[in-house]
Amino acid sequence: MRQKIVAGNWKMNKNAEETQTLLQDLVSKLPQTEAQIIVAPTFVNLASAVNQLKNTSVIVAAQNMHQAENGAYTGEISANMLESIGVNTVILGHSERRSYFGETDSILAYKVDTALKHNMKIIFCFGEELKDRQDKQHFNVVENQLRDGLFHIANEAWNNIILAYEPVWAIGTGETATPEQAQEMHEFIRETVRHTFGSSIAENVSILYGGSVKPDNAKEIFGKPDVDGGLIGGAALKADDFVAIINGII
Ligand code: G3P
Repeated sequence: MRQKIVAGNWKMNKNAEETQTLLQDLVSKLPQTEAQIIVAPTFVNLASAVNQLKNTSVIVAAQNMHQAENGAYTGEISANMLESIGVNTVILGHSERRSYFGETDSILAYKVDTALKHNMKIIFCFGEELKDRQDKQHFNVVENQLRDGLFHIANEAWNNIILAYEPVWAIGTGETATPEQAQEMHEFIRETVRHTFGSSIAENVSILYGGSVKPDNAKEIFGKPDVDGGLIGGAALKADDFVAIINGII
């Protein structure tokens, strides 16, 4: 049975005090669920989040990491640094990293290798731009992002992989993909994995949807057969909304 997952990508939001308050609120309202719950605060709040959540089942993830082990990379964070504070899950390839910070598929392939070397869980993000979809190139774009950034990994590495399909035109726009659009792409993604890595890996990998998931649309999107949960942005910054989305997956 595939793992159901609801992950909150907080992006560049919440200072130390706000992080503590939001996590306190979230933990107090967390429902009983089989789903894996993940939160990704900003780097400066990861260690305190790990400590605050240590007696819960909530997993703390980093929003990014550098591909090098260490060195002259001002402002960057390494896998070893994340491990040293108890963070073993990392989001890689988010569209904002790809577009604002020039993260190419080959840089991401390198980051994937480094994260796997440290046995980290990877939430691998990918998704098409609006123009790609308008030009009916969205399947090609998604397949290329997977092949060029992730498909070099060994079969056994898939135990560390969570896929997150995030159509760029739906991120932060309130323009959510319809449940049918999400299912169509998730089915394609699963078939693309199956074609290269076989049925067992394809059937077991969790594929999350991200892009304006809200309390009022989560249940329908998560109800689709190839949608195994969500990667949530804005709605993760309010405990009540994040909990309502989690309830959409039970
Ligand atoms: O990584 C999740 C994020 O990109 C989705 O953002 O605000 O559309 O839920 P949002």
